[in-house]
Amino acid sequence: MQTQRLRIAIQKKGRLAKECQELLKRCGVKINYTGERLVVHAENMPLDLLLVRDDDIPGLIMDGVVDLGVIGENELEEVRLERIKLGEPSQYQLLRRLDFGGCRLSIALDKDQSYNGPQDLANQRIATTYPNILKAYMDKQGVSFSTCMLNGSVEVAPRAGLADAICDLVSTGATLEANGLKEAEVIFRSKAVLIQREGSFSEEKTALIERLLTRMQGVIQAKE
Ligand code: PRP
Ligand code: ZN
Ligand code: MG
Repeated sequence: MQTQRLRIAIQKKGRLAKECQELLKRCGVKINYTGERLVVHAENMPLDLLLVRDDDIPGLIMDGVVDLGVIGENELEEVRLERIKLGEPSQYQLLRRLDFGGCRLSIALDKDQSYNGPQDLANQRIATTYPNILKAYMDKQGVSFSTCMLNGSVEVAPRAGLADAICDLVSTGATLEANGLKEAEVIFRSKAVLIQREGSFSEEKTALIERLLTRMQGVIQAKE
């Protein structure tokens, strides 16, 4: 279902939301975010924003439901691997790496536990929201393990006796610190990226995307 207006999916709330809104504003997109709407229209160009959960953004792009999306590479890679596993569409085009949303996906364990390398994780249970990225890493290391899938509160899993270690996002490290955990292995480094669906675009949409990218280039350079 193609619309005339360019559709961009961004996170409704969370670590990327504010900076996405700020970036679009600096690119000259006028939007009124008040209210609890899922779709908001730009006032000064043929562009609509879809305000959704970040987890849904890669799939919306890969299914061709929206034209552009801003998403963390961690979420994007996790969904891509999951879709490959399920034989579902997993294609997208990377338009630009952005200058926010930086974090790393790390394996962490009890701070008093000794750690000398990935082989120490053999046959351990690891709690995570990113089972596919974790498995890709562990397979590469040749270390077998089991997962405990959690969509939140991953950091409490070891203390709660649910898992031996965790694999979760780390930004400042405060969450690990507060939970008596230490970072053992960084397995993925992530930033926010702007992605585009596969397939053809109308001339109007192509021109608008070009215009947005040029402005984005200017905005990001001005900050450097
Ligand atoms: C991530 C992660 C940790 C926290 C790490 O959660 O799951 O809880 O950030 O950040 P820190 O190193 O600065 O403490 P997020 O804020 O994405 O929320 P969520 O866990 O509810 O998804
Ligand atoms: Zn999420
Ligand atoms: Mg968290």
